[in-house]
Amino acid sequence: MKVLITGATGNVGLALLKALADQSSIEVVAGVRDMAHDKAHFPVLEGLECRLFDFEKAETFDTALQGIDLVFLLRPPHIADIPRYFAPLIQKIKDMGIAKVVLLSVQGAERSNIIPHRKIEKLILEHGLEYIFLRPSYFMENLTTTLLAEIKAHRTITLPSRQAQFNWVSVQDIGAMAAYLIAHFDSHKNQPLVISGRENLSFGDVVQRINHLTHAEIRYKSVNPLTYYFLKRREGQPRDKVMVMLVLHFLPVLQGPPQISDRFEAIMQRAPTSIDQFIADNRSFFLS
Ligand SMILES: NC(=O)c1ccc[n+]([C@@H]2O[C@H](COP(=O)([O-])OP(=O)(O)OC[C@H]3O[C@@H](n4cnc5c(N)ncnc54)[C@H](OP(=O)(O)O)[C@@H]3O)[C@@H](O)[C@H]2O)c1
Repeated sequence: MKVLITGATGNVGLALLKALADQSSIEVVAGVRDMAHDKAHFPVLEGLECRLFDFEKAETFDTALQGIDLVFLLRPPHIADIPRYFAPLIQKIKDMGIAKVVLLSVQGAERSNIIPHRKIEKLILEHGLEYIFLRPSYFMENLTTTLLAEIKAHRTITLPSRQAQFNWVSVQDIGAMAAYLIAHFDSHKNQPLVISGRENLSFGDVVQRINHLTHAEIRYKSVNPLTYYFLKRREGQPRDKVMVMLVLHFLPVLQGPPQISDRFEAIMQRAPTSIDQFIADNRSFFLS
């Protein structure tokens, strides 16, 4: 089976490509935006077929989708206009006779009609494609990516999250489960699957664990949403990025604790990565 991986150079895409290396039945095609740069910077692309693919350039769809049996789709964080970018793509997937899609969605997507992931799920359903909606909880790797600059510069994590509970899942586990689901698509198709870790923890709890396990001295600062917005704008962060971070980190204050799903363990036959393990594996990120 030939599979196109979109978002191949991102957090989940790279973890997925690594995990797919163990699936000999899958012929992998990586969809990338900058062939020369990406091949030079991402060793995992070595030896893989790479094709030019850009959600914002519909002219790349035909060649990228040629001969593909299944598409792994994700929504790049900056793309919010789903009708504009995803409707033509899903239509093209359908027109080219590709029946199968695995979508990286988000936990709780079903609870809102306005979040982009739900809109993509609906497009897939409306076009009658076979699907798996993989709905992960909050990425542990946010600690070592989007939140890292502040940790490094100020030894703080500032968010509008109060003591809200987040469920923490590892991107490596998402990549492993996505690879398994792609290889065993027919046994799991046409359902949403929540992938979560075993623990719900607040940022206060997680920072305490980091400090305990690594002897780092990081502080969690909870601020109200408006303060957060103006703070990050003053730091020069783009409005759209600040809004995404605000919604992602404030909504859990209004919602209850997230659902803990047993799907990962049931399908992968092992426990998901714990936050303690993640912190231990990424110790160097947290030290000054
Ligand atoms: N963070 C969380 O806690 C969390 C939790 C649940 C779900 N999610 C969802 O996970 C998704 C993000 O996954 P991620 O962390 O792997 O993303 P990421 O690391 O930001 O990577 C984004 C990927 O999309 C590619 N991309 C960007 N713009 C593109 C375009 N116009 N055309 C084609 N490719 C493009 C990037 O390629 P380049 O290298 O070319 O830029 C990169 O490969 C989002 O939909 C998010 O809502 C996140």
